[in-house]
Order: sequence, then C-alpha cells, then structure tokens
Amino acid sequence: MEITRLLLRQFRCFEQAELHPAPGFNLLTGANGCGKTSVLEALHLLAHGRSFRGRVRDGLVRRGQAALEVVAQWHGSDHVPHRCGLRHTGSQWQAKLDGEDVQQLGHLLTAVTVVSFEPDSHSLVDGGSESRRRYLDWGLFHVEQDFLPTWRRYSRALKQRNALLRQRDPGLQLDAWEQELAHTGEILTHQRETHVANLQPRLEHCVQSLLPGVGAPSIRLQPGWRQRDLGLGDALLLARERDFALGHSTVGPHRADLRIDLDGIPANGLSRGQTKQMALALILTQATLLAETSGHWPVLQLDDLGAELDRNHQDRAIAMLVRSGAQILITGSEPPPCLISGLTGVARFHVEQAKIERVS
Ligand SMILES: Nc1ncnc2c1ncn2[C@@H]1O[C@H](COP(=O)(O)OP(=O)(O)OP(=O)(O)O)[C@@H](O)[C@H]1O
Ligand SMILES: [Mg+2]
Repeated sequence: MEITRLLLRQFRCFEQAELHPAPGFNLLTGANGCGKTSVLEALHLLAHGRSFRGRVRDGLVRRGQAALEVVAQWHGSDHVPHRCGLRHTGSQWQAKLDGEDVQQLGHLLTAVTVVSFEPDSHSLVDGGSESRRRYLDWGLFHVEQDFLPTWRRYSRALKQRNALLRQRDPGLQLDAWEQELAHTGEILTHQRETHVANLQPRLEHCVQSLLPGVGAPSIRLQPGWRQRDLGLGDALLLARERDFALGHSTVGPHRADLRIDLDGIPANGLSRGQTKQMALALILTQATLLAETSGHWPVLQLDDLGAELDRNHQDRAIAMLVRSGAQILITGSEPPPCLISGLTGVARFHVEQAKIERVS
C-alpha cells in the first residue's frame, strides 16, 4: 500500500499536523523530542490498534485533550484511493473506512498494513514471548482468514475455563469449555505452524542479505504445551490439578513462543547490534510474505535507523529496502549517510514545533 496523506490531531505533541508521503523513501528529520517517532506511531496505530510504544491509554492522546484522531488516505494494490479515520479516547473509539462506520477494529486493521522497526524491536529476539506471539499472529491475521474468528473462540473458551478454575468448579461445564479450548487451540497451532514454515525460507534469504556469516537461521513454534504429539486436550487434562491451584490455564497457544536459532544455537547469544539486525530480518521477512500473499507491500517504518544500526548494516538494510519497492518512512535526528549519498528521489521532511514540512 502507498499512503498519500496522514493527518494527526491531538496526537502526543501534535495539535494538528499533516504528512503527504511520497512513494518510495521518505525521511523525517528533526531535533530530539520534535515528534518524529510520534508520526510513525500514528500510522502504526491504524494498522495494529496500538502503538509500538503502548496503547492509546498509555499517553498517546495529547495532554489535556479528550481524544486523538488519525486519518489516512492511501492507494491499495488496486490503485483505488481509500481513506480511514480513527478517533480514540483511550477507552472508546470510533472509526470510518471509506465512508462507512467500522464496527470492529479488526476491519480497519485488515485494510491498513504497516510494519515498524524501532528501538525496542530487539525484544522480538531477546525479550519475552508475548512480542513473538504478537508478531506471528499479526502475520497470520493478514494471510489466514480463519485466524481471527478462531482466535476469538479460543480467547472466549480460555476466559471461561479460567473463571471455572478460580471458582474451583470441576463440573461438566469445565469439560465442555476444555473441549472447545482444545479444538480451537489445535487449529490455531496448526495455522501458526504453517505460517512459521512459510516464513522460514524467506527468513533464510533475509538473514543472508542483512547478516551474512551469522549462521543459518531456523524458527520453530513452541506450541504452548510441552509435547506437541500429545493433543492439547490431554495436555489440559494433565495440567488441571496445577491449573486449579494457580487459578489460570498454564498450557495452550496463549503460552506459545517462537524459538529462533542460528546454526542450531539459540539466537540470544547475538551481540546487541546483531540482535537488532535479526529483529529487522524477522520484520522484513513478515513483510515479504505478506507482499507475496496479498500482492502489495505493507508500509515499512524504521524509527531512528541511524542510531540503531552501524553504517555497514544500515547500507545492507537500505539496499534490501530499495529492492522491495515498498513505501518506506525513516526517521532520524540526522539523515542516515547512506540515504544522502546513495539514493535519489528521497522525499525529505523536517519536523519542528509540532509541524511537518517537506524540504525536498
Ligand atoms: N501525551 C502527550 N501530550 C503532549 N506531548 C507529548 C505527549 N506524549 C509525548 N509528548 C511529547 O511529544 C514529543 C514527541 O516525542 P517523539 O518521541 O515523537 O520525538 P522524536 O522526534 O522521535 O524524538 P527523538 O529524536 O528523541 O527520538 C516529546 O517532546 C514528548 O515529550
Ligand atoms: Mg524518536
């Protein structure tokens, strides 16, 4: 997709600001604290329902204001112009997509596809399992139509089972919800395994380009219970006693993880810089798969690229991004040297005093 206009109202430091990105590379520069990351957060919010720095209620609404608004216009793969808008108070939201009221946020999130690499992206490799589950599920959400309804059924069954565990009620209801949990959980796990298998060859290619010599990457789903060949139904039954004691479900896809190895060794031995580059490889792998499946690239956002990667790794990343042909938004307090020296046609914007101005 190609964003043609992004409007922010009462979003962090911006009272109102507008960006008209060009196709290809867009570079946003400005002093620390001027609002560069906030611009990327606004677009990320439309695509993920949250920012990469937290939820709307965590401080995205401009201080003293009731709600933020983000409006985006874009061309999809069909070259037809689209438009959406989101107003969010932190607890309540209203949204429109092509003039129609949006009933479920999921509908908006399907329409806007954006991936972001930012200073905390390393947690995809070295952080807790939640960010890896979110990574996997965001990809699945876009390539597998049945994912969202199955996920909703699973979440409902999980809530019901947890409530019965807390009430210490081992009756027939628990059996019924456990069956639903096992059934939907097996489907989710199968979908995730297929997605991981689809990501694998693309990740190999991406790592080869971004981190040559670091080893052959492999990703493997850890489904959320120890023995995959033991069905989830049996795993839930075996865990019952412990789950009653703890008051929540300790096995199932909500506990899944993605194991990342290099030459068969866990990737957590990588240096800080390599870890970031590995995270970028994972993010670009997901974008590649999405582009191949849906026929259009997500918008790629790279926050503070210059500060995150050394020159050599920046050059490799930029070379890969150029090949993709995707629309790209990059921020930095200074322009990354490789963007000034090597590329023509970069649209440059300056952010200052909560205004965004195109400078070339
Ligand atoms: N809810 C809010 N209301 C008003 N201002 C806010 C709010 N949240 C953050 N800010 C301010 O918005 C500004 C924008 O921050 P942002 O992180 O986008 O800047 P940046 O240009 O990316 O800076 P850096 O170069 O340091 O990464 C900061 O000055 C911050 O203090
Ligand atoms: Mg920033």
